[in-house]
Amino acid sequence: MKFFVDTAEIDAIAELNDTGMVDGVTTNPSLILKSGRDILEVTKEICDLVDGPVSAEVVATDADDMIAEGRKLAEIAENIAVKLPLTWDGLKACKTLTGEGKMVNVTLCFSANQALLAAKAGASFISPFIGRLDDMSIDGLELIEDIRTIYDNYEFTTEILAASIRSVNHVQDCAKIGADVMTAPPDVIKKLAGHPLTDKGLDQFLKDAAKADIKIV
Ligand code: E4P
Repeated sequence: MKFFVDTAEIDAIAELNDTGMVDGVTTNPSLILKSGRDILEVTKEICDLVDGPVSAEVVATDADDMIAEGRKLAEIAENIAVKLPLTWDGLKACKTLTGEGKMVNVTLCFSANQALLAAKAGASFISPFIGRLDDMSIDGLELIEDIRTIYDNYEFTTEILAASIRSVNHVQDCAKIGADVMTAPPDVIKKLAGHPLTDKGLDQFLKDAAKADIKIV
């Protein structure tokens, strides 16, 4: 499973990138607002830092304007994935931009039928939002399962990008289902390495190493 980082914070991306855990980055207008940066500047910096796809979202709602914004975003770097909302205008823009060879991430997906439409429009990625469904007491993971089944039934190549991930359990559940990619905030990715038995075991080993006066370099 590929790991994308869901943030526009350069320092957080750089820190995780050094561990080899960053296969791409996703941003959205709310994350750009949080960064306090200009979208074109910060997206360029992210693209320079990370080799994989960097999603940058349009803010237009009309297909023609989305296409114009998508083209401008795609000029930033070759690894830009233009992020479009799952509306009919977004699907139309998806069809045009993917026809031009650009990567497209169709976002704000909350149903399997929406995911089916995105695949038919040629999307490179579909972003089902797990956490926001869970917030409404609807099982977000069931949506990932349904999309996996549909895409496998028809051999769609659109990658399932599990989004709105809020917990470490979401990550392992998505991996078990077979999501192609997950995008999570840096703090969730960092928590994946944590286990109390790891901490306890390491503590004991370090105490014994000190007693044994072990020195390696
Ligand atoms: C992904 O592309 C979205 O930007 C993100 O995962 C949304 O997460 P949220 O529901 O926590 O805002």
